[in-house]
Amino acid sequence: MLETLQPKVQDESRQGEAYAPANGVFNDYNKKFYIESYGCQMNFSDSEIVASILNEQGFGSTRNVEEADLVLLNTCSIREKAEVTVRKRLTEFRKFKHDRPGLLIGVLGCMAERLKSKLLEEEKLVDLVVGPDAYRTLPGLIGEAGEGQKAVNVLLSREETYADISPVRLNSNGITAFVSIMRGCNNMCSFCVVPFTRGRERSRDANSIVAECTALFNEGYREVTLLGQNVDSYYWVNDSKQEVTFAQLLEKCALIDPELRIRFSTSHPKDITDPVLYTMAKYPNICRYIHLPLQSGSTRVLQLMNRTYTREWYIAKVKRIREIMPDCGISSDIIAGFCTETDEDHKDTLDVMEQSAYDFSYMFIYSERPGTLAARRYADDIPEEIKKDRLTQIVNLQNRLSLESNRKDIGKTFTVLIEGDSKRSDQQWMGRNSQNKVLVFPKTDHPASQKGNYIDVRVIDCTQGTLIGEAIAG
Ligand code: 5AD
Ligand code: SF4
Repeated sequence: MLETLQPKVQDESRQGEAYAPANGVFNDYNKKFYIESYGCQMNFSDSEIVASILNEQGFGSTRNVEEADLVLLNTCSIREKAEVTVRKRLTEFRKFKHDRPGLLIGVLGCMAERLKSKLLEEEKLVDLVVGPDAYRTLPGLIGEAGEGQKAVNVLLSREETYADISPVRLNSNGITAFVSIMRGCNNMCSFCVVPFTRGRERSRDANSIVAECTALFNEGYREVTLLGQNVDSYYWVNDSKQEVTFAQLLEKCALIDPELRIRFSTSHPKDITDPVLYTMAKYPNICRYIHLPLQSGSTRVLQLMNRTYTREWYIAKVKRIREIMPDCGISSDIIAGFCTETDEDHKDTLDVMEQSAYDFSYMFIYSERPGTLAARRYADDIPEEIKKDRLTQIVNLQNRLSLESNRKDIGKTFTVLIEGDSKRSDQQWMGRNSQNKVLVFPKTDHPASQKGNYIDVRVIDCTQGTLIGEAIAG
């Protein structure tokens, strides 16, 4: 089924990929763990915290499942398909147990939280089950599982932010990194399982965030993405009762160094404020890009979704962003075929997409999740064929909008952070502009033509997904 047509994470090819540390220094450990991550960027970021905790316990990471003593899957529950993929993978791993009875298999993340001990007790697929707020207890749980006990911790916390744990960067390009600034979500969008699997919203100590970003910069990283389910409601009060809002946190991060780019994700349209927009406009190193999920363009459906804004309110927000930052890139998440959605509602979605002129979108078919408000209140009553047809229309429109947006960039020059070789050729660099668009351009002899550097690139051509350019520095 064509469910997700655009990657939710920046690089979908990383879904389920085995991890190895960025610096490959873990050869001295006597035990080895293998981890795969699924779902949102927050999960990938959590796996880096898990890696840090396991390193402390003498586990080094491996990309080779054959040599692992511990196999972990960090899982996603956002749509049914994500869970089906993980179950298949767990069944495959289970087979390894025949030859290696000492091997431990664990499930982490949202599926662990949602299904609790079911995967262990009823389905006997795993040896340990650890929810997103319980990773500090992993060492004890591994010990218990090793002794054949049931090792389950799915307690959610109101405080845990793992603020003091330095993530071990896994599969990193050494240039861009994700920094978690808050956990959980209080929004209760009716379709969404996240408030149930990740618990109440809590913000991480601002000083520890700035310290982590500074350390990354000193290690050579040049871009951090501040992560949270709803970053605009970031709010932290220090011991002297000083408040830090999201706008203030952005400013603190921007001031670390003008050469460090700051991005953030995800914004809720109801919470993104003028102070955030003005802070973005004030600092050139805060990227001109906002991911502003629409979900639906129909006020009636938005109400059922519990999104707390109307279509007019959303359109006004996009207008405001463009007033303050005319060159700001905007992307969106859209769900096709939510409960009771009519053709009129669907047309409203297409209309808001057109008016917002998104640079790109992540587009999904509605997938009913057990326990959510929508599952309890409304019937999942849109036939699969209609859902698919609406999704196709949404994707086709977005393809056109993306191409139009990219065509407008032809002839413009952008400052690009070089992230590495392009996928197609090691003679070409790949990087992003402030608006989060991918640029590909030939390498040159110029000293600036190096991974991790900023370079000015003029756009000469484009596809729907990529700007093609030439470096103008030399
Ligand atoms: N069905 C389909 N899409 C969903 N999303 C969240 N829950 C569901 C669901 N039940 C989408 C939303 C959200 C993104 C992360 O995933 O668009 O913004
Ligand atoms: Fe889910 Fe809504 Fe929270 Fe996003 S803001 S995680 S869609 S409940």
